[in-house]
Amino acid sequence: MCGIVGYVGVRDATPIVYDGLKRLEYRGYDSAGIAVIHKDHIEVRREAGKLDALRDLLSTQPLTGSIGIGHTRWATHGQANQINAHPHLDCTGDLVVIHNGIVENFLELRGDLQAQGHTFRSETDTETIVHLVEQNMRDGLGFEEAARQALGRLQGSQAVVLMNKCQPDRLIAARIGNAGGVTIGLGDGEMFLASDMPAILDYTRKVIFLESRQMAIVLKDGYQIISLDDGERVEASVHTISYDPASAAKGEYRHFMQKEIFEQGRSLTDTIRGRADFERGVIELPEMNLTAQSARAISRIVIAACGTSYHAGLVGRYMIEQLARIPVEVDIASEFRYRNPVIDPTVALLTITQSGETVDTLAAMEQADAAGCPLWTITNVIGSQAHRVSDGAILIHAGPEIGVASTKTFTGSQVDMYMLGLYLAQLRGVLDPVHVRHLVDDLARLPDLIGHMFDRAGEVEHLANEFQRYTNFLFLGRGINYPIALEGALKLKEISYIHAEGYAAGEMKHGPIALIDENMPVVCLAPKDAVYDKMISQIEQAKARNAIVIAVATEGDLAIKRKADHVIYVPPVPPLLLPVVLSIPLQMLAYYIAVRRGADVDQPRNLAKSVTVE
Ligand code: AGP
Repeated sequence: MCGIVGYVGVRDATPIVYDGLKRLEYRGYDSAGIAVIHKDHIEVRREAGKLDALRDLLSTQPLTGSIGIGHTRWATHGQANQINAHPHLDCTGDLVVIHNGIVENFLELRGDLQAQGHTFRSETDTETIVHLVEQNMRDGLGFEEAARQALGRLQGSQAVVLMNKCQPDRLIAARIGNAGGVTIGLGDGEMFLASDMPAILDYTRKVIFLESRQMAIVLKDGYQIISLDDGERVEASVHTISYDPASAAKGEYRHFMQKEIFEQGRSLTDTIRGRADFERGVIELPEMNLTAQSARAISRIVIAACGTSYHAGLVGRYMIEQLARIPVEVDIASEFRYRNPVIDPTVALLTITQSGETVDTLAAMEQADAAGCPLWTITNVIGSQAHRVSDGAILIHAGPEIGVASTKTFTGSQVDMYMLGLYLAQLRGVLDPVHVRHLVDDLARLPDLIGHMFDRAGEVEHLANEFQRYTNFLFLGRGINYPIALEGALKLKEISYIHAEGYAAGEMKHGPIALIDENMPVVCLAPKDAVYDKMISQIEQAKARNAIVIAVATEGDLAIKRKADHVIYVPPVPPLLLPVVLSIPLQMLAYYIAVRRGADVDQPRNLAKSVTVE
């Protein structure tokens, strides 16, 4: 999960490439670098650390040139230092490469190249690529064919951009497998390359998404796309993207994560808009490409996802099973792909992936596709790999989510699954229309209820102040809210670096209760639902062991104040929508604790927004 950017045109490349990297910094921020062609040679500036370090270097050692490439790194092979920072040069300094992904056979290739006299400067797998191209050119191949044959030898998933000082009018880009994509931006007398659209959409809305095993030769006035396998030209569709740059700006918020938490009233409105027909009392999901017949043919749904999206999938299982009465399994995608699952064409694979580029999730799609399964996806990124390979999709429509910790796309994914469950119920005829109308109407108030919850942000911030120094937390939930306990723990872990565990509350007596004492705050999700009494007894058991209990409860429940040390209230909503509402206070608690601890909320250490490597 690195960010790559390229430019060829008539303007100075450096500021365009740098600004593009800044918009991709969420993909990785261990080191960064830019290379340009200036007066017939390649100049490179690279620095460990975040992009600001590169900016400072460029201020003292500027780069000028009308063709350039840049990279912001999430380290896989080799320390996060300046030596391993991309771009990487070949032996002669004539060629330079940037790369996202993992060259799985790099050690073998590196050994062969060293035997042919190549010297390596870095520990990275990436540097192997540029020496392979160099060796092919030494053997008499032209730049483009040398690149095509070199890239054809790489195993694993890659996104690669190459530049050659001897052909300063072109860049070569390639995508192999499902690694973070390569988007070509079509400008007027200039062209752009990037891992993700935010890096180039200030300059153009016309984009091409490279498919796997395609290589593009990009000049300022045009492009050519060929197959890596046989070199034949391929045609590509040009997409026009509607995009509001302001929506990706922080505005008056301190962090992107704060903005994205607080805009969930609006983002859920956008998620629901055009899908819930409140007049007719039905859900319409045309982008799922389903008919009553194809919906009835589904025997089972397997949900595969990672991280927060996996937690959304756990919520979705309850929603879809309750609404559509279809059996649902939920897998961590990196587990699904290696467990030889029992699937067949009557089993639908539903992936949930904010980025649409998570390599394990995409691999699960490939595996299910090979078994003939219908591929469904819930994603936030139009044109992402998951979106492109799916048979049916529900876009989250949450707008760009820049904070590495997922928030608005988590609640958006849940609402998408609620609507999918209703839609499947309609198509399969398992719910009478009156019941469907009530369930659709329950959605109508949700965005406003969420919006009003931020009136209580001050209470949560006050709690965060009190709990910022604890080193361990437990989050407990039951039933459809158990996944929210898992998510609350993940949020706290990933942005404040405090150890936290989410547990099914009923599991406590089977071991984890041994952990509880006055140093272990316990967050209990205890809304007024069918298991409320069970959660109350859970709180009593924790209190009996001197725990400090933070309860998340339904407005109006005064009794719980006598049980818990602190209470955060949420508005009453129907049981199937409770997880969406309970997500909000836990997001805010994690955010405010992390801010109090001075953590890097938008770009937590060791993380990146989309995990495009295994
Ligand atoms: C969530 O806060 C994390 N950033 C991470 O767990 C994320 O949900 C996971 O990597 C999956 O990403 P995806 O939704 O883009 O596939």
